[in-house]
Amino acid sequence: MHDIITIDGPSASGKTSVAKLVAQRLGIPYISSGLLYRAVALMCLLENVSAEEIEGRLEKYRLELRPTPTQNLVFLDGHEVSKALHSLEVDQIVSAVAVRPAIREYVNNVLRKIPPPFVVDGRDMGSTVFPQARYKFYLTASPEVRAKRRVPERDAAYETVLAEIIRRDQADQKQSAPARDAIILDTSHLDLDGVVRAVLKHLAPPS
Ligand code: DC
Repeated sequence: MHDIITIDGPSASGKTSVAKLVAQRLGIPYISSGLLYRAVALMCLLENVSAEEIEGRLEKYRLELRPTPTQNLVFLDGHEVSKALHSLEVDQIVSAVAVRPAIREYVNNVLRKIPPPFVVDGRDMGSTVFPQARYKFYLTASPEVRAKRRVPERDAAYETVLAEIIRRDQADQKQSAPARDAIILDTSHLDLDGVVRAVLKHLAPPS
């Protein structure tokens, strides 16, 4: 059985879609670690405090991620908050939340409690959170290619989306270096199915 497979990469690299499809093909859960940073951003909004101030209040909350075969459900103190995690308000503050070391430690502890097997996507899953993972992938694509892919999902012009991607790349740079033993896949010239096939090709058949 494959235990932990990490799929990291910059924003709009397609890692969540790839992680979901690879997990489906293997019949194991997928986990989107970005949702936990989004949940901490939601805590800031609920309490009307900054990323710095929420650090002292993290233990007040019970944060839980429950993977289902098709999606991840996130619970704050037993209340399902998944739908609120993709709001514009959360988008705007989540990078500021994710750069704080104490918050990263908190999120990493939640992730490490999830029992394997699973496919997990993020920025530092292979390098920091699950260095023992059996397979580590790092997806890359040029900012221009990623912007083109994201335009249909956003109600915004290509130039706006490209500028946002470049801004996020810089904001997330520190935690986004690939693990030294990661398999780097440049997806610029592949469609989603092609990337999934490239990942699956590297995996040994489960025993
Ligand atoms: O993948 P996403 O867009 O849902 O991630 C939300 C934010 O969290 C994004 O700013 C990057 C950050 N993040 C991170 O720093 N480390 C992770 N493992 C996952 C996400």
